[in-house]
Amino acid sequence: MTERHRRTEAPTGFTRILEEPVPGPASALAPLPAPACRLAPEGVGRVRERLHLLRRPAPAPARRHRLSLRPHRIEALRPRTEAIVDTLLHQLAQHTPDQPVDLFNSFARAIPARVICDLVGVPEPLRPRVLSATAAALHTAATPDQAKAGLNELIDSMKALIQDRRATPGEDLISDLLAEHGSADHLAEQHVISALVLVITAGSETPANLIASTALALLTHHGQRALLRTGDITWNDAIEETLRLEGPIMHMPLRYAVEDIPLGGGVTIPRGDAILLGFAAAGRDPSIHGDSADTFEARRLEKTHLAFGHDAHYCLGATLGRMEADIALRGLFHRFPRLRLAVPPQELLPQESFVVNGHQSIPVALRPSRRRKAAAPVRDR
Ligand code: HEM
Repeated sequence: MTERHRRTEAPTGFTRILEEPVPGPASALAPLPAPACRLAPEGVGRVRERLHLLRRPAPAPARRHRLSLRPHRIEALRPRTEAIVDTLLHQLAQHTPDQPVDLFNSFARAIPARVICDLVGVPEPLRPRVLSATAAALHTAATPDQAKAGLNELIDSMKALIQDRRATPGEDLISDLLAEHGSADHLAEQHVISALVLVITAGSETPANLIASTALALLTHHGQRALLRTGDITWNDAIEETLRLEGPIMHMPLRYAVEDIPLGGGVTIPRGDAILLGFAAAGRDPSIHGDSADTFEARRLEKTHLAFGHDAHYCLGATLGRMEADIALRGLFHRFPRLRLAVPPQELLPQESFVVNGHQSIPVALRPSRRRKAAAPVRDR
């Protein structure tokens, strides 16, 4: 683990892996692990085709620049994000005090979904369709038939989106991309679809899980929550600790070794082998984070993690994701200071994905009556 982490940290580490198959003794076309195969009704070629939509070859600086969310653009989203959070909190407050509410689907997920749709330019009527199609792309436990139908729907929903924006261009990312890729030929459309899938998928489910996982950590670690109240830790501490311990992206398919990569301990990734990146492991490396690496402790000074990736593919929305989490969590815990988990934490079900890390739902009581016993914290120290 230590050696592996050092490699991901090394500045040249990622020059040894590529996103396209590399011919080698251990062919990249060797059978993939079972969950990845499930994405592939027609075999590995289909996996590559599907992933290609999400993972285009290493982005040229110019492409990163175009998709980039420069600081002023992100700051411009702050008032809108605050308004979205306020609206959702107001809606939550309409529930009766002890009525459980699903914090993930009613709050955490709704915020980045609305922000990214505003940013990209998804019109209201198309939002449910587009968001459910992009979320389905991360459901790696899908059956082959579901995966195939999901892929078709993903492409069709993006085509509907493009058609809509072509008819009524606006001040949004889709209109920018369409202006840039001008012609309506197949390749230009493929590029725009690819960029849209990347940004909408990357920008919606990840902040949702960051918000939900940070809230969950605080709901199950009452001592840490108290430190926030007393100002001994900041919201930024809590968010970074969640990114370290429960990053929204656990694994990222799929890269290929350009050359043999010795990992130490007699383990070598042979040239050409397919690699599933395990971003989450770096945050739990005991040689960096010590014996408490698996514990949520927002006071720790060393919170190094790879939750936003590394190097050429470093997340373009990291600042936005952090800002959304900050606004959402401050608002939530301020509005509902007695917020409690409504079920024992061990009853929460993980999402059915080996890419995304989070829970399917997080039932909470917003204003539990003091007489009622809240679900006990399990991992607090
Ligand atoms: C807490 C929130 C977020 C987390 C944890 C996260 C995580 C990541 C990770 C791990 C990668 C690297 C993927 C790889 O190496 O293949 C990535 C890339 C990316 N992210 Fe994020 N992300 C977040 C929020 C966002 C947001 C809000 C947006 C858009 C508005 C966004 C847009 C992107 C894009 C476009 C890339 C691809 C970069 C490239 O390949 O050049 N992300 N993100």
